[in-house]
Amino acid sequence: MKSFYITTAIDYANAGPHLGHAYEKVLTDVIARFKRLQGFDVRFLTGLDEHGMKVQQSAEKKGIEPQEFVNDIALEFLALLKQLNISNDDYIRTTGERHKVVVQNLLQKLHDQGDIYKDYYHGYYSVRAEQFVLEKEKVDGEWPSIYGEVVEITEPNYFFRLGKYQDWLIEHIKTHEDFIFPKSRANQVLEFLKEPVNDLCISRPRERLSWGISLPFDEDYVTYVWFDAVTNYLSAVAPGTPENEKYWPADYHVIGKDILVPAHSVYWPIMLKAGGIEPPLGFIVHGFWTMSGKKMSKSEGEIVDPFDLIEEFGPDAFRYFVTREMNVGLDSDFTLERFMIRYNSDLANDLGNLLSRLLNMTHRYCGGIVPTASVREEPEAVLLENWGKVQEEVVGLFDGFRFHTALERIFHFISSVNRYAETRAPWKLAKSDAAEDRQRLETALACMAESLRLVAIVLTPVMPDVCERINGLLGTQGVDSWEGNLDWSERMEGNALGKAAILFPKTR
Ligand code: MSP
Repeated sequence: MKSFYITTAIDYANAGPHLGHAYEKVLTDVIARFKRLQGFDVRFLTGLDEHGMKVQQSAEKKGIEPQEFVNDIALEFLALLKQLNISNDDYIRTTGERHKVVVQNLLQKLHDQGDIYKDYYHGYYSVRAEQFVLEKEKVDGEWPSIYGEVVEITEPNYFFRLGKYQDWLIEHIKTHEDFIFPKSRANQVLEFLKEPVNDLCISRPRERLSWGISLPFDEDYVTYVWFDAVTNYLSAVAPGTPENEKYWPADYHVIGKDILVPAHSVYWPIMLKAGGIEPPLGFIVHGFWTMSGKKMSKSEGEIVDPFDLIEEFGPDAFRYFVTREMNVGLDSDFTLERFMIRYNSDLANDLGNLLSRLLNMTHRYCGGIVPTASVREEPEAVLLENWGKVQEEVVGLFDGFRFHTALERIFHFISSVNRYAETRAPWKLAKSDAAEDRQRLETALACMAESLRLVAIVLTPVMPDVCERINGLLGTQGVDSWEGNLDWSERMEGNALGKAAILFPKTR
């Protein structure tokens, strides 16, 4: 079985999760579930980025040890994964031993071969951003407020020879079309690489930052945040263990647009290249959720708490909303109003209603058993044609990460099934004594049942729970693979349907 390794970014352990974190998990989960249905042996990794200055400071403020602080945050992120029904196979924490070993081995190798060297660093350092900042970034002589306090420091540190591998990276990006999705982001990286890249300062003196992994060749230093963070993707499939090794190189790292350049697209591939390890096959770079056009940030107080939405509307309504609204790669604005429109109109009225209509009418007119479809007239021809279009496109859309379009097409089809039910109006046909009308009625219910069977297959990666419930009510099993299961068929005939159920209750 061909392996497929997909990862999310690991979340900073300095604050709890928000909509952006939840979105990235859902997006990655949709891909992982889809790939499993395509027959891949999927390994899906997510985790927590626990070291660094901010965490150390937050813990100090609370008067607790950093480890205790991150342990609490880990519980919040793990609870989110559970509530969202995320199917990750592994969860990595950068304070774990398995991670430390891999980071130190890589550092040692790069040091031994001369790619890491010691030199003086003089510069301006932003405590809040945990990075050195450049004079040219000043606006009207002031540091941008996102940097908080900026201090001037000169200190010996360790550097990684990034520049040495710059030409290789440019060539790699140019010759690997699928390295960065969407493609426009690859141009952004190439633009960045037009200027010579500076060697990367990868250490902090332990006296200033104690919360980190020690450099194996100098105990007075710890590794700087990015070196420790990006390596998680490799440490989770620890080199040297055959059952894990098959997953490397990773197929996709799913990340937000803020951490592509330079951390993921420059530092990480070069670290791997220097270490003699294959780079990942690709990055999927998603945009940002904003609120009323503004960036979500704790300091601005503009945060959507995913837990509230999940509790009120259920995990699948949340999963559906973010997948339907976000065109992967672009930004999207969150409003509760928009969420409610999607919930009421797509989920409750279109999908939920279709199911309850089917269940009600099948019990009323056919003893709860799916009847035979024996008529093929114009309304059926239109319905089948509509399904044909979805069937033709849906796999390609999922494969191309165009989930919002896939969902648009699927829900278009669901609306067309509701229209079909209106056209056929089984409640009117039931009043007729003509044999053909009885056949039309039975055909209508059979076609609605078959439509829902198909819908519950293609929606599974996005709404696994809801689809399982639909399958239960239809008397069908979920499928292990889409292959061969998306053809319009008669296989619902004779199924005993469950009693009417409300999938998406009206909550406000
Ligand atoms: N710890 C680093 C990543 C290290 S990966 C080796 C980090 N953490 S983060 O908690 O700030 O962000 C985690 C992920 O969430 C990132 O991919 C980031 O882009 C994403 N998002 C954070 N806020 C977001 C939105 N408002 N909208 C969508 N995704 C956003 O960066």
